[in-house]
Amino acid sequence: MTKTIEELIPDYLRGLPVYVPGKPIEEVERELGIHAVKLASNENPLGPSPKAMEAARAALGESHRYPDGGTHALRKTLAELRGVTPEELFVALGSSELIDLASRVLLRQGLEGITSEGSYAPFSIAIRASGAKLVLVPQRDFAFDLQAIAKVITPRTGVIYLANPNNPTGTAFTGAEFREFVERVPDGVLVVLDEAYIHYATSVGLKDSVEVYRRRKNLLILRTFSKVYGLAGLRIGYAIGRPELLSAMNKLKTPFNTSGVAQAAALAALDDKEHVKRCIETNAAERKRLCEGLAKLGLRPVPSATNFVFIPVGPEAREISDDLLHLGVIVRPLGWMGFPEAIRISIGTAEENEKCLSALAQVLMKRTGKGELATR
Ligand SMILES: Cc1ncc(COP(=O)(O)O)c(C=O)c1O
Repeated sequence: MTKTIEELIPDYLRGLPVYVPGKPIEEVERELGIHAVKLASNENPLGPSPKAMEAARAALGESHRYPDGGTHALRKTLAELRGVTPEELFVALGSSELIDLASRVLLRQGLEGITSEGSYAPFSIAIRASGAKLVLVPQRDFAFDLQAIAKVITPRTGVIYLANPNNPTGTAFTGAEFREFVERVPDGVLVVLDEAYIHYATSVGLKDSVEVYRRRKNLLILRTFSKVYGLAGLRIGYAIGRPELLSAMNKLKTPFNTSGVAQAAALAALDDKEHVKRCIETNAAERKRLCEGLAKLGLRPVPSATNFVFIPVGPEAREISDDLLHLGVIVRPLGWMGFPEAIRISIGTAEENEKCLSALAQVLMKRTGKGELATR
């Protein structure tokens, strides 16, 4: 009997959830006919560095050529910056491609991948897509429970995914906690440490993980240009790891993964330290203001080390997000990420945050009659 195409798709792929991105501004404006602000995907509201834009424009003229598939210039600069060799660097289509490649290289049916409940969904998707068993460890106080994770490591464990700080809860573990954890992980298990939001976390040193990597080589550190560097639309990020692992990942990546425009913009963005500083400072000031405004509305956001805040709002979280959408504020309901009673709001510009707070006050007024939520 001949098989259908559907039957060729393995069971572990058929059951996979689809990654749900934040709603694009254009879609909301088209559907609702209103002006909207997007605070749903943890993007940089100040945009790319002007230097990065200039470099991208210049690189556009070479778009008839394939880009440098080996990303030599970018890896050389990153190597100097991070204190590693170019062979320990791998450039990819954002951290997303790196998350996927790590599982594709190291996991398969019969093995296990570990991550936390309430963390970045692509970790679980990458583990399950490899055919390996997904082991999800509950959080403690909305944060990675590193001790509990260390306890579920078995001889079948291949990869552990951690995000520091974590998305969507915004919490971070310290360098000391991480060092202690890594000591408990056997050499034959890879720890993938996703540091997409690390620039916003003053509690964690920017160099902490590279110092750990120098001593324990079973670490893959992921960084992205999508957040503090403001290049989410260009799709570029990088990993620091053992050359043997990176060369296996290199065999599986699509040829010419990152464009020449993205590589040029990333190089220039690294050089614009002023812009990075301004983005970090603006985020910290706006995060404080937004959290104070939320507290006045009776809300209790989880203290955030990132460019977003996680807010438990109760069983009407989905409805509250929908109401905000109709007032032109796109936030993220978190049901599909395992938090049906919470929403996530990305930190915007002062103007965007003001609009968000006043829309939220209106929504709470409608739902509670008081303009605020009872203290929870
Ligand atoms: C923890 C985490 N890792 C990675 C990413 C994706 O980064 P990239 O745009 O580099 O694929 C995100 C995006 O929101 C994230 O929250």
